[in-house]
Amino acid sequence: MTEGDWDFAIVNGTVALDSGVFPGDIRCAHGKVVALGERGMFRRSPRRINAEGLLVLPGGIDVHTHFDEPFMNCVTADDFESGGRAAFAGGITSHIDFAYQYPGESLHQAVANWHAKAEGRAVADYGLHIVVTDASQGVVDEVPAMVREGYSSFKVFMTYEGLRAADSDLLRLFKAATSAGGRVSVHAEHADISALLCSEFIARGDVGPRWHPISRPVESECEATFRALALARVANAPIYIVHVSSGQAADIIREARTRGQSVVAETSIAYLVLTEEVYQGHGFEAAKYVCSPPLRPLAEQERLWQLLQDGTLQIVGSDHDSFTWADRRKLGAADFTKIPNGIEGVQHIRPLLWSEGVQTGRLSLERFVAVTATNPAKAFGLWPRKGGIVPGGDADFVLWDPAKRYRLGVQDCQSHCDYCVYEGREVTGGVVMTVSRGEVVFDGDSRAAVPGRGRFLPRTRAEWV
Ligand code: URP
Ligand code: ZN
Ligand code: ZN
Repeated sequence: MTEGDWDFAIVNGTVALDSGVFPGDIRCAHGKVVALGERGMFRRSPRRINAEGLLVLPGGIDVHTHFDEPFMNCVTADDFESGGRAAFAGGITSHIDFAYQYPGESLHQAVANWHAKAEGRAVADYGLHIVVTDASQGVVDEVPAMVREGYSSFKVFMTYEGLRAADSDLLRLFKAATSAGGRVSVHAEHADISALLCSEFIARGDVGPRWHPISRPVESECEATFRALALARVANAPIYIVHVSSGQAADIIREARTRGQSVVAETSIAYLVLTEEVYQGHGFEAAKYVCSPPLRPLAEQERLWQLLQDGTLQIVGSDHDSFTWADRRKLGAADFTKIPNGIEGVQHIRPLLWSEGVQTGRLSLERFVAVTATNPAKAFGLWPRKGGIVPGGDADFVLWDPAKRYRLGVQDCQSHCDYCVYEGREVTGGVVMTVSRGEVVFDGDSRAAVPGRGRFLPRTRAEWV
């Protein structure tokens, strides 16, 4: 079936929203939700999808993907097609990617470059954050126009030579984005700490990936998180912190919110299910797990789970940044600081979060829906079109089998990455079918999703979660 062809109903399922779980049927037409009712209400619908024994979830939203992105002297393995297919296989129907402003470019040029990558290729609906690498006054003057045109979120790096923003840039951008109704997201790590430690390690011959986490300690993330929050307070700006990796940094955010600061925070699935142990004793194999901030000790991870359930962390993203094994080896075999940073994960957010969160009792079902769909939609101006099951909203759903048991492995990954960092891990809970704007885009296979079907999602406002 394709969007708009016919009316249909999802019947006999159990609808799971961030606000509650109930037996219910959903009627859709022309790619939109028409009505949500009691189970049996739409049983006479001429076209039915039978969800008996399954949960019906809102389509997931991954607000942190890097598709078709040149980074650290190579390009990500996934583009808007393969990345989108991986998203569908994992129950994600929309994503927000990062459009980088390269040296000398305007912000309009940055988004034009990223639209060219998505054009004719995107399968999933997508929005764009703008990565601001030059926050000089002339560039910042473009911010109000960008917000009006649907790019209401900006990312700034506090680390990475060539990308990092000075504190004064951050202040300028906070002010400009806030007065335009947009918001700044911050990658919080202390640039000088990692630069100094990396140069010391390389100089003494410690060139393997096991040194990566030691070069980016928790203190580096905590200092930068605290500083970013302080700068946002000075600028009277709301702030979003991306990929929080440690319980200690999350506690700093919690404290700031307790004092009334407007802050939304995201963690990535990898920080919830992998620990720093993967870097030890595996030689260059550890390069697969090189991401920044790095994976942390178990105690930090346990705190992240607590703070995810209690609302301190409101969103789980993938930070899907896939690099082939060949690229990691070629670039980083002689120097861990050259390994392209990032881990794939858009297909794995929901299965892993279910298996290791809901199944283990660390996360409620409602919270699972909130952090993977509803909160991302609200925080990034997509609600109520996306992120829930709302009459008038897009017919984006996932039929979810809470008892499905299987092992993750590269053979089932839609990503073009040639390994899976979760290889062999047993999970419970998985996707049976993904529906995007009324179209079945995954039912064990995503071939029905035609490249170019993905639509740009302009976002001109944000709510708070
Ligand atoms: O290691 C990571 N996280 N990838 C680089 C891009 C980013 O979001 O920092
Ligand atoms: Zn980042
Ligand atoms: Zn990222």
